[in-house]
Amino acid sequence: MIPYQDYKYKSTLIPINLITDYFKSLNLNTDDFITTEIGAFGGYTSYRMLHYITPKEHYINDTYEFYDKWNHLKNFGTWNRSGGNLTNKDFDDVYKYTKNIFSEYNNVKVVKGYAQDFLNEFPDNYFDFIFSGINVEPNLLTNIMKIVYDKTKIGGYIGGYPLITSPTYHKTVKTLLKYPNVKRISKIKNNIFLLKKV
Ligand SMILES: C[S@@+](CC[C@H](N)C(=O)[O-])C[C@H]1O[C@@H](n2cnc3c(N)ncnc32)[C@H](O)[C@@H]1O
Repeated sequence: MIPYQDYKYKSTLIPINLITDYFKSLNLNTDDFITTEIGAFGGYTSYRMLHYITPKEHYINDTYEFYDKWNHLKNFGTWNRSGGNLTNKDFDDVYKYTKNIFSEYNNVKVVKGYAQDFLNEFPDNYFDFIFSGINVEPNLLTNIMKIVYDKTKIGGYIGGYPLITSPTYHKTVKTLLKYPNVKRISKIKNNIFLLKKV
């Protein structure tokens, strides 16, 4: 397992430990969890999350390409350190790197594709925890969040964080909170959110 500082595709330091600490405070059996990170890019947040919990199954999903062909709406993608948009070739490298890093984990699968297609492969009420790092055009986000909602177990959790580059964060939270049986875990703050499907 490589040390944090050597991770090639490090992203913003998402305080994912706030969520895993919260699960621990409830004594949840996270070893039985089925989890996913959608819009995971190089999987750095998943990599860190998997230091704290060991879910039974964890899926790392990203399109690993710049444009979203689904409805021809734009994937806002992600930006390299010098400020330019990543190209599809960069994304190929990110994909290969992520696959390679997680090849050592028996419980992890890296899935290339649109989150909406990936999630729809699973039955409704399947995931204990879906973490979203997706950065897309707001209308598309609404559609994706409906799927996220359907695929989360009753009693399961949905998390995410604000993205500086788009209105995604507020839209994600607002969209999900419109479902009557979704409540916000108010203890989780600090640039990260956690919702529960009750
Ligand atoms: C800000 S980056 C995510 C960073 C990552 N969550 C982390 O913590 O390192 C946003 C990602 O969302 C991905 N993305 C955008 N639309 C997507 C979609 N429809 N399905 C899956 N991933 C998508 C982009 O390719 C990009 O890698």
